[in-house]
Amino acid sequence: MSKFNIPYGKQHITKEDEQAIIEALYHPYLTQGPKIDEFEKAFADYIGCKYAVAVSNGTAALHLCTMALNVQKGQKIITTPITFAASANCIRYCGGEVVFADIAPKTYLIDYNSVKKLLENSPKGAYAGIIPVDFAGKAVDLEKFRKLAAEYDLWIIEDACHAPAGFFTDYKGVQQNCGNGNFAELAIFSFHPVKHIACGEGGMITTNNKALYEKLLTLRTHGITKDNTGELYQNSIEFAGGKDRYPLWYMEMQDLGYNYRITDIQCALGLSQLQRADDGVAKRRKIAKKYFQAFENEAFIKGQSGVDEGHAYHLYVLEVEDRLGLYNYLRENGIYAQIHYIPCHLMPYYRQFGWKEGDLPNAENYYKHCISLPMYPTLTEEEQNYVIKKVKEFYK
Ligand SMILES: Cc1ncc(COP(=O)(O)O)c(C=O)c1O
Repeated sequence: MSKFNIPYGKQHITKEDEQAIIEALYHPYLTQGPKIDEFEKAFADYIGCKYAVAVSNGTAALHLCTMALNVQKGQKIITTPITFAASANCIRYCGGEVVFADIAPKTYLIDYNSVKKLLENSPKGAYAGIIPVDFAGKAVDLEKFRKLAAEYDLWIIEDACHAPAGFFTDYKGVQQNCGNGNFAELAIFSFHPVKHIACGEGGMITTNNKALYEKLLTLRTHGITKDNTGELYQNSIEFAGGKDRYPLWYMEMQDLGYNYRITDIQCALGLSQLQRADDGVAKRRKIAKKYFQAFENEAFIKGQSGVDEGHAYHLYVLEVEDRLGLYNYLRENGIYAQIHYIPCHLMPYYRQFGWKEGDLPNAENYYKHCISLPMYPTLTEEEQNYVIKKVKEFYK
């Protein structure tokens, strides 16, 4: 048995995190307290956008986005097959039709030309939006997609779950952070423990659009509006039970929303984690560089995540021959690599809509060879050396 037990991803919890949680625990509000607002403001600041809405998880964030953008039954929306199912499922929650576009073989991201072809080959108005995913932490060039979206009147939801602190450089040479709202109407993040910032469960929506922001706030909590001025209410003061103004207890459910709230305890943890987020990304980038250099000239490597200064490295992917052999060999040696992802269009749920093998060759070929190596800020040098050694040993 190996003395090592190395997962592909892992949260990092400190004494400061513990203290932050304990403080929140003794606050009068366990949910809907001040930590939510604080976390939202700090996160918006970190990403460089105007508004942020914290929710119970990344999937809820995606669902609220498709609701806020009014996705209707039968509307077609484009996304990538190489993602976690939630990126596509949020379209289905609103009855929309998921259209998967193939990935680019080098970046593993949704392929611009495949999206363009879909749009060109359909009448204008056939598609409502695009959900690009900053897969593995690599930023999608949203400036390019925005131009396409403007031409075809589409909205964009950026699934940035893998990419807090990820960025691309726009055509003027300006750094554009994932989720900053400059090119997408809405962006979402997840605070699942394997992600950059861990809340246990948690998610965030970021935007620069005030109307969408306000809509999201009500949808997050049952579609209820609580308005001190009374200006937003639809029922009369008299009905509400007041005399010359609405009584203080009054509120209105004006939309069908959900309980997608996050707790103060989770936000206290998120806030504490956010203080170390830059450190964590710097470590991830260092680990990526070392993997890249170690495997750069190896014949068994068909492709790898590589080195890209804007990559946030939620994952470090290798493409190899005999992926199954390598995966099992690593497991036998205490290294728990993972596969990201089984192409979404070939999940039995999506096959029922007619998707079949051969539809998206780049994504399917990628799935045959991909493996995600351990990647998290507390991965030690000794552990990473061991992972590299074992990968090379398998191919000797
Ligand atoms: C790309 C992507 N989108 C959405 C989600 C959903 O996030 P959550 O697990 O917080 O619901 C995940 C989480 O794994 C993800 O990786």
